[in-house]
Amino acid sequence: MAREKIIIDTDPGQDDAVAMLLAFASPEEIEVLGVTAVAGNAPLHLTELNARKICEVAGMPDIKVYAGCDRPLFLDLHTAPEVHGETGLDGPDLPMPTMKLQEQHAVDFIIDTLRSHEAGTVTLCPVGPLTNIATALVRAPDIAPRIKQIVLMGGAQTEGGNSSPVAEFNIFVDPHAADIVMRCGAPIVMFPLDVTHQVLTSQRQMERVKAIPGAVGRVTYQMLDFYRRYDEAKYGTDGGPLHDPCVIAWLLKPDLFQGKLCNVAVETASPLTIGQTVVDKFAKTGRPLNALYMMKADSDGFFDLLVERLARL
Ligand code: RIB
Ligand code: CA
Repeated sequence: MAREKIIIDTDPGQDDAVAMLLAFASPEEIEVLGVTAVAGNAPLHLTELNARKICEVAGMPDIKVYAGCDRPLFLDLHTAPEVHGETGLDGPDLPMPTMKLQEQHAVDFIIDTLRSHEAGTVTLCPVGPLTNIATALVRAPDIAPRIKQIVLMGGAQTEGGNSSPVAEFNIFVDPHAADIVMRCGAPIVMFPLDVTHQVLTSQRQMERVKAIPGAVGRVTYQMLDFYRRYDEAKYGTDGGPLHDPCVIAWLLKPDLFQGKLCNVAVETASPLTIGQTVVDKFAKTGRPLNALYMMKADSDGFFDLLVERLARL
């Protein structure tokens, strides 16, 4: 089967980092064309640095990392140090990377990659605010029909929000960008809190991660041991939700998840509900069915895949 050619658009972020490692650990199924950093969990200068650190943890300094947008399209940047720490990747003490950041802007890389590859062969995997993707679509509308699919982490409905009562962080940070992406016409597969909150780094799963040999196992355990504390305290759960790796796990084993083709729209104006994803599960609006909205995950199957793959690095 042909390998999935992907661009990971990311704001590392411990869960972003695990998504990157899972992709890197699956070269038979996934070809990572590049990693594009965006401001989100931390400012851009930290998310691009963290992305390079993770490439080196994986022993892959040849992965091309690009810096993108350092703030949302219109709003001020909100970061999440309370979740991810001041570095954006608290937990492990990682050395400064020796690999260089690419000179090209991430948005130009996204546009050039979609234009230079055969139409319908490149998958975008945004797991942070959608600023880079939206900027590319506005600057080069011709790329929209060339995108194979956009597989993103973002949004919420039944779970409520994690950044406001109704809005999930990636959408809340840049709702205008999310609105542009949701309306671009490319096939979208969406992993909202409704499904990622089923994938928790429980004590039992953390023991399995801890047993993964080598630097990747150690670093992943340290990242997740730091990362879980915020959500455990907030939700009273056994473990924190592994949001972003769900995107990569779906590419590898789609049967781990179940969803429904729906219309998903983004609130961009109301001060009360800005960033809310309105999911029309029963087609009441007649709006286009623009997203496969994921609602159910096989958590044990997910961790079986994650542990098996990370042990390969
Ligand atoms: O709401 C969870 C999302 O926001 C994840 O992508 C996490 O990394 C943060 O970016
Ligand atoms: Ca993220």
